[in-house]
Amino acid sequence: MPSPETTPEPGPYRRAYAEAAGDPEAFWLAAARALDWDRPPERAFDGTSGPYGRWFPGARLNACHNAVDRHADGARRDQAAILYDSPVTGTKRTITYGELKAEVATLAAVLAGLGVGPGDRVVLYMPMVPEAVFGMLACARLGAVHSVVFGGFAANELAVRIEDAAPKVVLAASCGVEPSRVVAYKPLLDAALDAAAHKPDACLILQRPQCAAALTAGRDRDWAEAVDAARAAGATAPCASVAATDPLYVLYTSGTTGKPKGVVRDVAGQLVALAWTMPNLYGVQPGETYFCASDIGWVVGHCYIVYAPLVHGCTTVLYEGKPVGTPDAGAYWRLLSEYGVVCLFTAPTALRAIKKEDPGGDLVARYDLKKFRSLFLAGERADPDSVAWAERVLDRPVIDHWWQTETGWPIAGNPIGLETLPVKRGSTCVPMPGYDVQVLDEGGKPVPAGTMGTIAIRLPLPPGCLPTLWGSDERMRQSYLSTFPGYYDTSDAGVIDADGYITVLGRTDDIINVAGHRLSTGGMEAVLSAHPDVAECAVIGIRDALKGEVPCGFVVLKARVERDPAEIERELVAKVRAEIGPVAAFKLALTVPRLPKTRSGKILRATMKRIADAEPWTMPATIDDAGALDEIGASLKGRGIGAG
Ligand code: COA
Ligand code: AMP
Repeated sequence: MPSPETTPEPGPYRRAYAEAAGDPEAFWLAAARALDWDRPPERAFDGTSGPYGRWFPGARLNACHNAVDRHADGARRDQAAILYDSPVTGTKRTITYGELKAEVATLAAVLAGLGVGPGDRVVLYMPMVPEAVFGMLACARLGAVHSVVFGGFAANELAVRIEDAAPKVVLAASCGVEPSRVVAYKPLLDAALDAAAHKPDACLILQRPQCAAALTAGRDRDWAEAVDAARAAGATAPCASVAATDPLYVLYTSGTTGKPKGVVRDVAGQLVALAWTMPNLYGVQPGETYFCASDIGWVVGHCYIVYAPLVHGCTTVLYEGKPVGTPDAGAYWRLLSEYGVVCLFTAPTALRAIKKEDPGGDLVARYDLKKFRSLFLAGERADPDSVAWAERVLDRPVIDHWWQTETGWPIAGNPIGLETLPVKRGSTCVPMPGYDVQVLDEGGKPVPAGTMGTIAIRLPLPPGCLPTLWGSDERMRQSYLSTFPGYYDTSDAGVIDADGYITVLGRTDDIINVAGHRLSTGGMEAVLSAHPDVAECAVIGIRDALKGEVPCGFVVLKARVERDPAEIERELVAKVRAEIGPVAAFKLALTVPRLPKTRSGKILRATMKRIADAEPWTMPATIDDAGALDEIGASLKGRGIGAG
């Protein structure tokens, strides 16, 4: 297949791509017609404001109106908007669009009563319960900016986000429910609020039956009581008209410095892009059921559990469970069958977990999947074995697609709503309209097809991508726009082949991907270095059959530390869990006599990783002391890792 620009007889995908490239104004103004506007956009893009420009300047709308009210006030009033399915608590609940509007309008009135107005931030620290979605939408209704923090992060990470977002109100639940344990969120919230200099005016706490939280007088309110009182008083809040360029949310993601980056998402750009993807990329129609098995704490959850399906008038499945163990590896197939799901979106790690438990795919046959049409994968590289396995057991297209928290919608994928392009396992297929994706060499020059380099996107980014970082245009420029002038640097390395297919091979920075969760090794190193017995350390991601990658920390102890190294290693594991969170899956700390370095003092992380992954490696010519690498190999071998 020729490259996107040169096809003589373009199919629907190539026509769409060419239209967006040739006349972005016309393409995105047409896409914008999928939304209701208070003031429709007269032009799509203004290249003069923001770090690289802003989308839909001058227009006004409300995200909650588009996701909820227009359906609730129309033909979808009695259609299910949310299907909540929670095997960990044994609960199911159907919420129609009409009910969703009532819930959200009441909660918005509660928030307004707590002083939340347009532009104010609200932090959510909540598990996968309907109230979390009500909370996000209630913020959108008021024109407030939500910032959801994933429940698997510890108090310190929450504190850093609270400090940066400076929320007026925090919405939290008393607990999350993991298959193995109830995770009390409230003590973590209390610790975070103790640590953060910024104090919110109020916290609204959802008491769950699995664990009641003690409320702090004067600050904490009981969620149910507040909502009941508002409902009894008939209090509701209307949808506020906000500027298209106003922030809908801030979502923090791992940055290379250990300080998370607050990715800003503007209202109109996000909704226009998501509305375009539902029919054209995923091939899903209004009224159909869509199941994204992520978490609302991640970008995928924001986009494809909440905003995209609701804006498109679909039914979304909100699943509080795991792919395996709740109760078995047939959990996803049950959901597909029970709710008539047409499209499933999950992470490859979930497939690997299912494949491990049910290699023959026998559990699939227990369920009637007649409505199910396609499986989409993202969040990490989809290994060809797992893709082939899923194709075989499901007998449906399995589509790998690539995106980032920063972009807010897929950069590349197989647009099966437009046309199904040939699948090449291991590749994330072709760029979506609006993305001019290039592979660059170190000097910033595009490389020939088939050559590996850094993947960059020529500016401007399409609607939906981050216009800036919260509170810092300058950090936005430094982090993403300065390495290759005129481009957004994805920090992913990869290749584009002669057919225009993009293959993503890995990160060029210190980010690792653990079970589809994005984490910074630099952040973990900061935690290890702060241990009083640690002189220096290095954390690398090593290959893991289930999670793709897991972190492994090497530490050099200070001279004259005489304690048992095994005890210190246990403390280090506990320290990362306590300070970053269980989601880091940091289980391996190894004390070594020294770290392998170049003569200029750079730690040889790439070679250490090759040793841990049992890949062939050569002794770097610049190494300072060859023995240090042998020690790394020996210490890994002691744990049964690598080839030694
Ligand atoms: N709140 C509190 N703790 C959480 C949590 C949450 N929301 N989510 C995960 N954790 C905890 C887990 O309980 C686990 O704790 P443990 O160390 O005590 O066992 C730890 O964080 C690591 O969790 P996880 O990475 O989920 O590993 P797992 O071994 O529990 O499960 C999988 C493995 C593959 C089943 C799971 O990682 C999974 O479903 N991954 C898909 C991820 C995904 O959809 N990502 C979205 C990106 S598109
Ligand atoms: P996040 O911001 O958490 O969505 O993580 C984004 C990172 O995950 C990307 O920069 C990639 O490194 C990786 N990633 C996401 N999707 C894919 C994919 N389909 N293939 C390869 N890597 C992916």
